[in-house]
Amino acid sequence: MPLENPRLSRRTLLLAGGVGVLGSAGCTSGPDVPERTGVGTGDVLVPLADVPRGGAYEMSVDGRRVLVVQPTAGTVVAFDAECPHQGCSVRATDDGLVCPCHASAFDPATGQVLQGPATSPLTAIAVAVSGDDVVLG
Ligand code: FES
Repeated sequence: MPLENPRLSRRTLLLAGGVGVLGSAGCTSGPDVPERTGVGTGDVLVPLADVPRGGAYEMSVDGRRVLVVQPTAGTVVAFDAECPHQGCSVRATDDGLVCPCHASAFDPATGQVLQGPATSPLTAIAVAVSGDDVVLG
């Protein structure tokens, strides 16, 4: 089986978890997403099967919005969804990881800025695959 392209196409980014439509809520937390509370290192965040390959799963972890991304089959990365520009919640959209406030865009595999005004990357959150689950690293 060929390996998937490690750089996700902004057009092929899929969304799971929260609402898939880019919100118009401005600098609010955005629509409701699945929530986990009281999790620590090694605790399950989400079944790997719920994170689309080449896509992102939006969730809340102890009140913090998190984007869990599966850039290639079986590999996961996660980012704090707080936009480094002015703090809006970055969303997973058909156009990639995009901030609804001023349209900054971020590389789903690395969190690096693809388009400003943000000048800093998304904050990475340590995650790992353990068995069939994504766990907090
Ligand atoms: S707050 Fe995200 S681009 Fe401005």
